Amino acid sequence: MTRPEALIDSHGRVMRDLRVSVTDRCNFRCMYCLPETEAAHNFYRGRWAQMPSPAPILHQWQPKSAILSYEEIERIVRVAAGLGIDKIRLTGGEPLLRRDLPKLVERISAVSGIKDLALTTNGFLFPQLGKALAEAGLQRISFSLDSLDKGNFKKITGRDGLEEVIASIRLAKDLGLAPVKVNAVIIRGMNDHEIEPLAQFARDQDLILRFIEFMPLDSARAWLKELVVPGQEILSRLQKCFQLEAVQSANLSETAKRWRIDGSRSEIGIIAPVSEPFCGHCNRLRLTADGKIRTCLFSVTEHDLRPFVRGEGSDAEMEEFLRAVVWKKEPRHRIGEPDFVPASRSMSCIGG
Ligand code: GTP
Ligand code: 5AD
Ligand code: SF4
Repeated sequence: MTRPEALIDSHGRVMRDLRVSVTDRCNFRCMYCLPETEAAHNFYRGRWAQMPSPAPILHQWQPKSAILSYEEIERIVRVAAGLGIDKIRLTGGEPLLRRDLPKLVERISAVSGIKDLALTTNGFLFPQLGKALAEAGLQRISFSLDSLDKGNFKKITGRDGLEEVIASIRLAKDLGLAPVKVNAVIIRGMNDHEIEPLAQFARDQDLILRFIEFMPLDSARAWLKELVVPGQEILSRLQKCFQLEAVQSANLSETAKRWRIDGSRSEIGIIAPVSEPFCGHCNRLRLTADGKIRTCLFSVTEHDLRPFVRGEGSDAEMEEFLRAVVWKKEPRHRIGEPDFVPASRSMSCIGG
């Protein structure tokens, strides 16, 4: 097989979605991502018979000089758009910590070929930035919200921020960033008792609420299979309380299976990468804040684009590099298998 022009891998998957992390920093310390709080420590310690191995990922924030500038990100997006990428999602760390984010949104939304521009955020800073982001061209938003209980929210995220996040969700709806999505990572023993209230919240607030299986991407490497609540279990529980009607999606690469709640406009989605992997239709690439391309959430190798944007590299050379990198995209993840090798970085550095 010869390598064709678009961003296609050796398994025939065509890349359309580039997720751009704009910072590796975060103002939360979520249990499933950066579990560096005493509450997280106590939770995992109670479940581990012995200390996790391999060792935790020791955190070192990237220095400012390593982080791509907005000009550099825009150039990469433009080159990727020329190769068929039409969907950009800005992530972090927490992307709203990056100064002047609306300026980046404005630049990306002006790139020819980009049809969809979305953001994933914990929502804490959104009340201050929402209006400017929407005016700059942001089209969609996903918030992380794993608990509706003030105390549990703090335990999971390390921060007292439930009210701010709920206000952010309301604001996003008012700004027309539709459909507003909310992501809840479910961890057994931590927030699985909140599955039904979270679905009821989606029903009441006209939202799309996606339940996500916990993946081994936390910096402490404390993930255990026993902590994963399988998507099927979540669905069975919800079917006892709500009338759920399956929603068919035309997009095979979508991560979530979807259900309309009680004939309303609200939906729940189940993202089950551990129990029902969806790698066969994966069309996603990731760009880290320090300019590395990752072809999988679980990549153990990264591909540095900085020499192209900081050196003498031409756009044509960057295109060729991207094609070669994508061609070798990992076929699938190996979570739970004996030969599973954890990703080289935690989710906070990769972006969700
Ligand atoms: P849209 O579908 O464009 O609305 O994007 P979104 O970020 O709201 O949702 P998406 O389905 O892309 O991601 C939600 C969550 O699903 C992420 O935070 C991850 O936990 C998980 N996820 C996303 N992409 C992948 C992937 O490629 N592989 C795996 N294993 N999990 C993923
Ligand atoms: N497992 C599953 N999803 C995760 N996220 C972060 N860490 C994990 C993990 N270990 C998701 C959360 C967050 C988004 C950025 O990534 O939903 O909202
Ligand atoms: Fe794609 Fe890797 Fe996620 Fe599978 S685990 S869907 S290959 S990013």
